[in-house]
Amino acid sequence: MVTGATAGIGAAFARRLAADGHDLVLVARDGQRLADLAAELTGRHGGTVRVLAVDLSTDEGCGAVEDRLRDPAEPVDLLVNNAGISLNRPFLHSTAAEEVRLLRLNVHAVLRLTLAALPGMTERGHGAVINVSSVAGFGPVMPGSTYSASKAWVTNFSESIAQSVRRYGVRVMVLCPGYTRTEFHDRAGIDMSKTPEWMWLRADDVVRDALRDLRRNRMVSVPDWRYKAVVFGLRHAPGRLWRAVARDTRGRIGREES
Ligand SMILES: NC(=O)c1ccc[n+]([C@@H]2O[C@H](COP(=O)([O-])OP(=O)(O)OC[C@H]3O[C@@H](n4cnc5c(N)ncnc54)[C@H](OP(=O)(O)O)[C@@H]3O)[C@@H](O)[C@H]2O)c1
Repeated sequence: MVTGATAGIGAAFARRLAADGHDLVLVARDGQRLADLAAELTGRHGGTVRVLAVDLSTDEGCGAVEDRLRDPAEPVDLLVNNAGISLNRPFLHSTAAEEVRLLRLNVHAVLRLTLAALPGMTERGHGAVINVSSVAGFGPVMPGSTYSASKAWVTNFSESIAQSVRRYGVRVMVLCPGYTRTEFHDRAGIDMSKTPEWMWLRADDVVRDALRDLRRNRMVSVPDWRYKAVVFGLRHAPGRLWRAVARDTRGRIGREES
């Protein structure tokens, strides 16, 4: 099962997993895009592709996906919690409704779907969950944005849960990509025109590295050596150093401190 499967990193997961011969359950809001992708994948690779058109920022949407994950007749062996958003609004000018929507999708849905998937996996003695976080989760690197905080939660949560289910033969891995060319920044209205070309990753490469790291039983996957270096810096450099670096991103995220 892949959430946020119609675009970007989620679509790359769907295409890779279908090409590897897996049956799929694809989740996103846009039913037409889901149907088109399902037709493309079954046409190209065979296999069964089911779709669930739901909004994961709602209780009903999460509930429908939880029901599917708990269905013993069609067990899900790999859950990719990928759907996520950012906001292009500094916190001081944000609204509670927008912030809660971000938290419900980036955090609440990840919590609920992971909790729905794991008991079946531990009972069966195999299975895996990939939670898609971000390099941004390693520190408050986007001043005025709550996105980093939501991803810090995903990373910490995943590492913690991973250790508790390992003994049952079940893997939980957190995937922390850097800037990846998808629809993500356009959807949020974030201007990335000044981001240097070398900082961009391809979604297909992110997915290839993620699946390799899962096979290697890694708990944390950071695709690409450049972002591995960034994460090393964020984890070990003094806070005042990376806060200085983060100041460069301020113009993109908002102007509350200028
Ligand atoms: N792109 C980057 O630079 C980058 C870097 C680090 C981490 N990430 C993370 O990677 C993940 C995937 O991002 P992406 O860049 O691939 O984004 P994307 O291209 O914007 O795709 C987002 C996907 O999520 C779905 N989605 C959005 N809101 C949803 C909702 N409320 N309920 C269900 N599905 C929803 C979208 O489909 P519908 O609109 O049809 O629902 C779409 O399939 C996110 O968690 C993001 O935080 C991205």
